[in-house]
Amino acid sequence: MDSGRDAHNLGMTLTEDAVRDALRQVQDPDLHRDIVFLGFVKAISIEGSSVHVVVELTTPACPVREELQAACENAIRDLTPATEIRIEMTAQVRKKSGPDSELVPGVKHIIAIASGKGGVGKSTVTVNLAVALAQTGAKVGLLDADVYGPCIPLMMGAKDEKPFTQANKIIPIQRYGVKMMSLGFLLEEGNAVMWRGPMVAGTVRQLLADVDWGDLDYLLADLPPGTGDAPMSLAQLVPLTGVVIVSTPHNVASNIAGKAVQLFRRLNSPILGVVENMGAYTDPVSGERRQMFYGASGDELAKDLKVPFLGSIPFDPEISQSGDAGVPSVIMHPGTPQAGAFQRIAGKVAQQSSILAMTRTELKQA
Ligand SMILES: Nc1ncnc2c1ncn2[C@@H]1O[C@H](COP(=O)(O)OP(=O)(O)O)[C@@H](O)[C@H]1O
Ligand SMILES: [Mg+2]
Repeated sequence: MDSGRDAHNLGMTLTEDAVRDALRQVQDPDLHRDIVFLGFVKAISIEGSSVHVVVELTTPACPVREELQAACENAIRDLTPATEIRIEMTAQVRKKSGPDSELVPGVKHIIAIASGKGGVGKSTVTVNLAVALAQTGAKVGLLDADVYGPCIPLMMGAKDEKPFTQANKIIPIQRYGVKMMSLGFLLEEGNAVMWRGPMVAGTVRQLLADVDWGDLDYLLADLPPGTGDAPMSLAQLVPLTGVVIVSTPHNVASNIAGKAVQLFRRLNSPILGVVENMGAYTDPVSGERRQMFYGASGDELAKDLKVPFLGSIPFDPEISQSGDAGVPSVIMHPGTPQAGAFQRIAGKVAQQSSILAMTRTELKQA
């Protein structure tokens, strides 16, 4: 009965300050600061022998949520082993630092999904990331900025919807917890548009400013492939939190992906990272690992471009089927390797956005 800890339990009452000090041992692995310094500890209450702590993360899609929760519990447990400890994890997405977007003032993060080449699965990745983020409880919008071939309505099971207008704003269509808008909803089917640069810019502007997006944590924009007018317009019209580059593991696709990265860097839009799509998969019959493409992998590409690698989505015909059926994989095939991959990548995207939201100066002031 002579240890310091027992003396503590018997003699001293546990104080909020002592709990707060203990929580200073818990570091955010991305921001490299402790959670008290970062302002994540929102409330500490002590009642008898039970401690209740409210921790507010910067995104509900935080991939290290459980890890942080356990670390908080352990830190308090070290202080006072006899206590009942409840760590409540909440989240409030922090706004991107820098100027607000005048066109979409209620949107905290605008994230563009881009690729060098068409057909790499950019739209497939965008819809699944949007739905996966919404599944965590985030408020999510999906902007189909592929004015040449809008396919979001089809992939989200909403191709026959016609949005209506209220108070001069177009009301987005909702599916799977995501608000979306696409030129596909607004054009008559089969009406081809002969696009010129200024028209693309005007249309992207309308899809942002004329739509009642309301308050969103994340607005994901699906771009047409390449480095044309749509990506240029989007990056010039609104401050992007960052760009996700989708590529397939073959050399042609990854070489062209580098060009897209260069464009966004010139436009001062940060690159959140690279997603490899149609990557290695497990053959359902033989159980062997197989590849569709043999070339530069997504993580090699990310290393070359000096950007984070966000993960790989396996090649799987089910992904294609769910796209055609209008039910994203994360809804249609939950629990599969591909759904898990989309969900992990959504967490990484949210995590990278949070890191960018807290600039160095903010970290100093936190
Ligand atoms: N991981 C995958 N496995 C199998 N098929 C896929 C995968 N990702 C995308 N596809 C299919 O590839 C085609 C192109 O995808 P899409 O998302 O339209 O590409 P992009 O928007 O880059 O042009 C679609 O038919 C889609 O269903
Ligand atoms: Mg597409």
